[in-house]
Amino acid sequence: MTQSNASNAKSATKPTGKLAVLIPGLGAVSTTFIAGVELVRKGLGKPIGSLTQMGTARLGKRTDNNTVMIKDLVPLAGLDDLVFGAWDVVGEDALTVAKRSAVLSEKDIDGAADLLRSIKPRPGIHDPAYVRELPVDNAMKAATHVERVEQIRADIREFKKTLGADRAVMLFTASTEKFHQPGKNHETLKDFEAAIEANDPSISPTMIYVYAGMKEGCPFINGTPNYSVDLPAIQELAKELCLPIAGKDLKSGQTMMKTVLAPALKARLLGLRGWFSTNILGNRDGEVLNDPEAFHSKEVTKTGVLDTILVGEDYPDLYSDYTHKVSIHYYKPRGDEKEGWDNIDLTGWLDYPMQIKVNFLCRDSILAAPLCLDLVLFMDFAMRNHWRGIQEWLSFYFKCPMAAPGLSPEHDLFIQLTKLKNTLRVAAGEAPITHLGLEYYGDDLPICVP
Ligand SMILES: NC(=O)c1ccc[n+]([C@@H]2O[C@H](COP(=O)([O-])OP(=O)(O)OC[C@H]3O[C@@H](n4cnc5c(N)ncnc54)[C@H](O)[C@@H]3O)[C@@H](O)[C@H]2O)c1
Repeated sequence: MTQSNASNAKSATKPTGKLAVLIPGLGAVSTTFIAGVELVRKGLGKPIGSLTQMGTARLGKRTDNNTVMIKDLVPLAGLDDLVFGAWDVVGEDALTVAKRSAVLSEKDIDGAADLLRSIKPRPGIHDPAYVRELPVDNAMKAATHVERVEQIRADIREFKKTLGADRAVMLFTASTEKFHQPGKNHETLKDFEAAIEANDPSISPTMIYVYAGMKEGCPFINGTPNYSVDLPAIQELAKELCLPIAGKDLKSGQTMMKTVLAPALKARLLGLRGWFSTNILGNRDGEVLNDPEAFHSKEVTKTGVLDTILVGEDYPDLYSDYTHKVSIHYYKPRGDEKEGWDNIDLTGWLDYPMQIKVNFLCRDSILAAPLCLDLVLFMDFAMRNHWRGIQEWLSFYFKCPMAAPGLSPEHDLFIQLTKLKNTLRVAAGEAPITHLGLEYYGDDLPICVP
């Protein structure tokens, strides 16, 4: 591996000072992320699963033999620069949450205990119409949406001051809200702001966090299925304020596997009759998703992935009539150690049926934590690059990625990874990699000249 120099980057500048990671939703995912960062900083753990910490990118031709670490290709904030603040409707500090969530071993929690203990959530915005199944004891006392927005904005300013940070990224990892259809109030910024003024019930807690966060200049990452940066009104705000936005719903386990396997079927032109996915999960996320209206929000992000990969219009004989079903069952004994089963009914030559079975015994928050780290560092990079609006190059991280209006989002994990790395190459002043099959190496032409 050869060394690359961060000063290669054409536009973004080297970050200085602290970067505040401000987190609505101090639960299993976010405490596993925070504890992991602290353990890596202390040399007590490895950042496995993180592209920013362990990933590489090839530069130039294969014969150039030039592969660099992604963190050397573009100037990203270092782990030592990260500081954390949070809001939650439950008042437990991060140490108590990490212990209760039982994702990490006692030894690992001890290694990060001082930092975790110091993170006490500010009161969160609670609306029982959106999330029900929670032991709420730390709800913000505010009478109107306007007051809620003002309180979150004041909290952000206070966080930055006390944490000594002049930059902040908002990482949203609160519980999944019940499904609600966005409407006219979410179409334009003018209507959205009028709905906030009118204290309209169509404005959810998530929408207040995103609006307030962006008004304070924070790039926003939506790790959940909740409506926020996917709303046209918020996208208008992102353009107006020149802020990057990314979402939605972290692509961690079963859906990640789906976006690996579905492109393989398509690549080999194998047909699909049905894809049945089910899960058992016993953490608090699973408890919240036990509410059918909250599960429906998750169902929407989990079922959307096949439609843009296995497109019936393009392949009528293969993908015009398949059944796709997804379910999640709350099963307490399993805790965060989710188990997912997939049964795929596919067809081959002359339409003969075959089956694939996948049984993924995963750990939900262990898979999600490195995605949080990468997203925070990349969104801060995007912000320093003055990139605004939807960050399509970060589709890699989401179940339900966003694309510019009129374009289909990309779900194929490896196309997403290519997009991401090429975006970084270009940002660093390097050429994108095309993977052409006919390459010319010196005198050895791959074509016989007649
Ligand atoms: N674990 C994964 O692999 C994964 C993958 C994709 C998405 N997600 C999503 O990430 C989110 C977090 O997952 P988790 O496992 O950490 O869940 P969790 O239940 O452990 O944490 C969620 C936290 O959000 C808090 N909360 C709820 N409403 C809030 C509000 N309005 N304001 C502030 N805090 C609020 C809850 O009290 C809880 O502490 C969920 O929406 C989940 O669906 C998780």
